[in-house]
Amino acid sequence: MAESDGRRVERRKGSADRRSAQERRTETRRSGFDRRGESAWEPIVIDGAGENAADAAALVAAAIDARTRARAQFSSFKVGAALETDSAAIVTGCNVENATYGLTMCAERVALYKALSDGHGVFTRIAVVADTADPTPPCGSCRQLLWEYCGDIEVVLANLSGVKRRLRLSELLPLPFDARLLD
Ligand code: THU
Repeated sequence: MAESDGRRVERRKGSADRRSAQERRTETRRSGFDRRGESAWEPIVIDGAGENAADAAALVAAAIDARTRARAQFSSFKVGAALETDSAAIVTGCNVENATYGLTMCAERVALYKALSDGHGVFTRIAVVADTADPTPPCGSCRQLLWEYCGDIEVVLANLSGVKRRLRLSELLPLPFDARLLD
């Protein structure tokens, strides 16, 4: 069970920001959804991080290692991922960018596609590592693909100095579209 279950995550609002919610919504519509410079997460204190971090150590180490192979020559934002299978195999991925930008593939999906093409089909956890103070969660596309192929796995978010947060995929994608709706 992820230790963060049930914990409320709130966005940090600048303490100097005294605008009303309505004013902020209007601002968002006017300027688009540019949140660069904002923290995506409140600082996180993980209860019992010592014990809980230990059992994810090998998975996180594999993601840290995969990250060193990231082809992030356009963004310089290197990401590593490590997907654990039900037989305790670990399949890693790193992000792969190219000159068109738009064909970039995230570390999580590289790991997933590698694992699927190697014949793995049942997954338990994924670790995602970036060199950020706040944990880097999977993007929307990765959440969708992970949900469809892995189900409600545990997501372990870490940076280079350790695990920052553990949660379930359903917390990141609470109302998913999936094949059940196609029947
Ligand atoms: N990226 C990932 O690989 N995984 C994530 O969870 C977030 C973003 C990559 C895509 C791109 O190469 C770079 O990070 C900047 O967005």
